[in-house]
Amino acid sequence: MAEQTVSKDLEDVKIEDDRVDPWKVECNSLKGIDYDKLIKTFGSSKIDQALIDRIEKITGKPVHPLLRRGIFFSHRDLNIILDLYEKNQPFYLYTGRGPSSESLHMGHLIPFIFTKWLQDTFDVPLIIQLTDDEKFLWKDLTVEESNRLAFENAKDIIACGFNKDKTFIFSDIDYISSSKAFYVQMLKIQKCVNLNQSCKIFGFDETSFIGKISFPAIQAATAFSAAFPQIFNGKTNVPCLIPCAIDQDPYFRLTRDIAPRLNAHKPSLIHSGFIPALQGATTKMSGSVATSSIFLTDTPKQIKTKINKYAFSGGRDTIEEHREKGGDYTVDISYKYLTFFLEDDEELEQIRQDYSSGKLLTGELKQKTIKIIQGIVADHQERRKNVTDEVVKEFMSIRKLAFEY
Ligand code: TYM
Ligand code: TRP
Repeated sequence: MAEQTVSKDLEDVKIEDDRVDPWKVECNSLKGIDYDKLIKTFGSSKIDQALIDRIEKITGKPVHPLLRRGIFFSHRDLNIILDLYEKNQPFYLYTGRGPSSESLHMGHLIPFIFTKWLQDTFDVPLIIQLTDDEKFLWKDLTVEESNRLAFENAKDIIACGFNKDKTFIFSDIDYISSSKAFYVQMLKIQKCVNLNQSCKIFGFDETSFIGKISFPAIQAATAFSAAFPQIFNGKTNVPCLIPCAIDQDPYFRLTRDIAPRLNAHKPSLIHSGFIPALQGATTKMSGSVATSSIFLTDTPKQIKTKINKYAFSGGRDTIEEHREKGGDYTVDISYKYLTFFLEDDEELEQIRQDYSSGKLLTGELKQKTIKIIQGIVADHQERRKNVTDEVVKEFMSIRKLAFEY
């Protein structure tokens, strides 16, 4: 087994002011979460220039803008995965989505856009877990409804461009009820974690449904190749890399903590930060607050209205003052969105300078952001139209992928 770095996977992680967990992302500053501090609190590692250089060197191409710009900013044991790639040894990618709403929002797109780049770059299997069981337990949804939303959300995910021969998408409700291997993996994990640990990591207490308390075993099980014998030909020790936003890290701290006891590799992780809410970077864009989000189903007009009406601005009160003193891009939501979605580095830098100097007005900045986001959403809607129920069924069928083991 490859050497694992000593990381404090399950030491006490204390959240002082910023709160980042699977249920809430919140901080006090309009500049957003202090991600450097979060790395220290969580005990993960910063993605530095040396690591980016290494990725470019071994893949022979520039890294994705989301990596270059520091939006994917943190990792756990990414070097182990890069070592494997260099030696031509197998690993797989795992990410997921909790199907709580009919449509994904722009924030959900980030891990999937980046995962597609990882799949194209490293040419490895990808497993996408849709936790319809989780959303049944946490939200006011019936089993049928959350299962249906999983199927609907799969269309948005497929529209990101994943390769059908190399991608398995599953709903927990459907897959667990037909896979002995997955259930056995869950069981083994359930025997490694006690009530006290589950409560401490996830904030559960004695009033929590018992389904919630054991749910983390399900999100963890997907990080072990033993849960997918049809893909890995029964190999139980294929390492895993998980791209996700850092709110999901508690699940994987737990997973990494128990992996050695199951004689398996700890999964590696690559973490992104959050697309902030329209109202300002003190919270993330969240599906449960409709006005905080731009949904992939929004019309061009809705996008325009939302950004004009809600996007928190770093501009000044009057044009004169703005021209004189310039805008504050560090709190400006339209500018922040451009850092996620505008591909041209030079154009982005020009916008930053012009906004800071007062040359570019808030209205003009918003106009640019509206156009870019309208374009991305329209392209996405176009691709989604081609994703029929038939295509979804193929991605979700239990099968071998285009890799030999
Ligand atoms: P869910 O559906 O809440 O989120 C899906 C993915 O989107 C990320 N995310 C964001 N990224 C950037 N900006 C935002 N504003 C934003 N909001 C959400 C999430 O971190 C996540 O990566 N329990 C999980 C489902 C899951 C999963 C996984 C996710 C199961 N296995 C493995 C990642 C990796 C959930 O409810 O995700
Ligand atoms: N809900 C808990 C909280 O209030 C979850 C939690 C506990 C947590 N410890 C954590 C989340 C450590 C992330 C990291 O924060």
